[in-house]
Amino acid sequence: MEIFHISAECYPMAKVGGLADVVGALPKYQKNAGHQVRVVVPGYDTKFKNENDFECVHWGNVKLGNFDFPFSVLKETTDKLGYELYLIEINELFNRPNLYGYEDDIERFLSFQIATLDWILARKSVPDIINCHDHHTGLIPFLIKYAYKYEGLQTIKTVITIHNGLYQGWFGFDKLHYLPEFDLIHVGFLEWDNSLNSLAVGIKCAHAVTTVSPSYLNEINISANGLESLFNSVRNKSIGILNGIDFEVWNPSKDQMIAENYAINTIETGKKKNKEKLCEQFELDSTKPLFSFIGRLFEEKGGDLLPHASALALSENFENINILILGSGNAAIEEQLIQLRNDYNGNYNVFIGYNEELAHLIYAGSDYILMPSRVEPCGLNQMYALRYGTVPIVRRTGGLRDTVIDFGDSGNGICHDQASVGDICYSINRAMKLYDDKISFNEIRKKGMAIDHSWERVCKEYIDIYTLIIEKNEI
Ligand code: GLC
Repeated sequence: MEIFHISAECYPMAKVGGLADVVGALPKYQKNAGHQVRVVVPGYDTKFKNENDFECVHWGNVKLGNFDFPFSVLKETTDKLGYELYLIEINELFNRPNLYGYEDDIERFLSFQIATLDWILARKSVPDIINCHDHHTGLIPFLIKYAYKYEGLQTIKTVITIHNGLYQGWFGFDKLHYLPEFDLIHVGFLEWDNSLNSLAVGIKCAHAVTTVSPSYLNEINISANGLESLFNSVRNKSIGILNGIDFEVWNPSKDQMIAENYAINTIETGKKKNKEKLCEQFELDSTKPLFSFIGRLFEEKGGDLLPHASALALSENFENINILILGSGNAAIEEQLIQLRNDYNGNYNVFIGYNEELAHLIYAGSDYILMPSRVEPCGLNQMYALRYGTVPIVRRTGGLRDTVIDFGDSGNGICHDQASVGDICYSINRAMKLYDDKISFNEIRKKGMAIDHSWERVCKEYIDIYTLIIEKNEI
């Protein structure tokens, strides 16, 4: 089967969050399973783009109302990613260092979607499946169905995968004329709550809707930033498929980015060495339990709870724990976390920013990973942590609920119900007790390492959905 993944992120070309990891890995496993798989992302000005070779395979012009943007399609030539990667290069819109956050984001991602479809139309073969990811690609299922110029693509079956339903790509009717011409009778598909809503369009028009975990699918029927009733109405074409992780990239026995490789039977010595290196780097005490957080510092991830929870846990257990935070996001949260260094020097540290190599070392060297998310459609960090023998402390929500079971119920981690400072600190206290019971602690770590969250299993679930919509038009 010929499959296109269209996305705003793909690791290692362009990453802000977990979306990139998924789009950078799932295609590789689909290709290994015998399919032709191509990934299309915008041609941002990233390190990967500047350091790799590309050839131009197509060029054209995107018309957006009165604007005219020349674009080219660049193909990555080394084939080292395990799938074909294509960049839509529109200099005026994407030759910028950041992926998102510009005033013209609507124009940028509309142009990206239109240029992608123009190119697919110009190719000799029409793919069987287009898998869109999140709101940046939500208009594609509509355009394929209803824009006159894409009539030749109508045999394509579309899937929209929802990694984050909070962001929806809203825009006003004043920009309706940016879209390629279609019969206005279909304009209702574009509208939700009096605005044009890219995610809602994708949900209405795609042949199938997938979420990145089963629990998240249940939750968005109750709370989805205004789209609850829409999700309810498409329940029969929706399915939750838990993400996998790339076992080649995330493998403590081969990982080049960590201080010492280890496997289940060498977990104690391996993690100790990594912890020592990490603690040395951040001036922490490797004889005490180390709690880490990796991620974006936003409310959604419970980032706003971290300064207070860290301060409370550290003051209650002064000299008995370490806390290390790696992340960036909300400036006020960043500032509070930096301030904490003054009070808890030697037990606490923070690295503002993102650093892939450091993230690997943190998974390898930490005892616990904190994930107090308010919303977590899947969450990959808990799966990385488990793979590295690091015990996850999570709030029961979305994919965290599907992957972490409390050790009190013979599980692999520590769970709490509220995204609150009190619940986080209570869990840290439980974790400290567990840490002192070396036999149980080791058993739980080993249990985590043995879990198979590889993409091989997940990959088949996606192919099964594609097959159903190709054969029967529905799931
Ligand atoms: C988004 C979600 C996260 C999920 C990731 C990959 O970043 O917030 O929960 O794991 O997408 O699907």
